[in-house]
Amino acid sequence: MTAQPFTTRKLTKGDYDQIVRVIDKWWGGPTSALAHPLFFYELGELARVVLHDEAVVGFLLGFLAPAEATGYVHLVGIDPEFRRQSVGARLYGSFEEACRAAHCARLKAVTTLGNDGSVRFHEALGWRTEVVEDYAGVGRARVVFTKPLG
Ligand SMILES: CC(C)(COP(=O)(O)OP(=O)(O)OC[C@H]1O[C@@H](n2cnc3c(N)ncnc32)[C@H](O)[C@@H]1OP(=O)(O)O)[C@@H](O)C(=O)NCCC(=O)NCCS
Repeated sequence: MTAQPFTTRKLTKGDYDQIVRVIDKWWGGPTSALAHPLFFYELGELARVVLHDEAVVGFLLGFLAPAEATGYVHLVGIDPEFRRQSVGARLYGSFEEACRAAHCARLKAVTTLGNDGSVRFHEALGWRTEVVEDYAGVGRARVVFTKPLG
């Protein structure tokens, strides 16, 4: 039988507790505020993790946003030791599947200028990339990623 080193499933409270412990390290700076508990308790139905040997090696915090029936990826992070092994692609695949089942019209995500790894990742998965001036306030441009779900 072929080994299945990675599994994808819904985020649990135990996963959430682990994520908030490691997120700053995985992102290379203070990021834990972005993993606010509301993304688990109130908006966590579509949140996903990828496990390797029962350890969380990647997570995605996302939810359904009513505007334009959008599946919004709020935050995604992969353990640096497990990058470029399709863990992010697995998470996005699982999220997209759930969003299609919920009849979403499109997917959306946002990052800061200069996050080239994220831009390359989204483009590789077929997302559209656009720099939107003043997106997060005057002088605060953001990279906005979208993908229509046909
Ligand atoms: C961006 C991130 C989520 C990608 O996760 P990952 O599991 O390494 O991505 P995958 O292995 O699924 O990559 C799929 C494809 O995307 C592209 N890609 C992913 N990361 C890339 C990088 N750093 N540079 C260039 N291309 C990249 C590649 O084409 C890759 O396919 P390949 O490895 O066969 O060439 C991960 O690097 C990460 O957690 N970064 C820190 C947090 C972050 O920036 N989050 C996103 C903010 S919106």
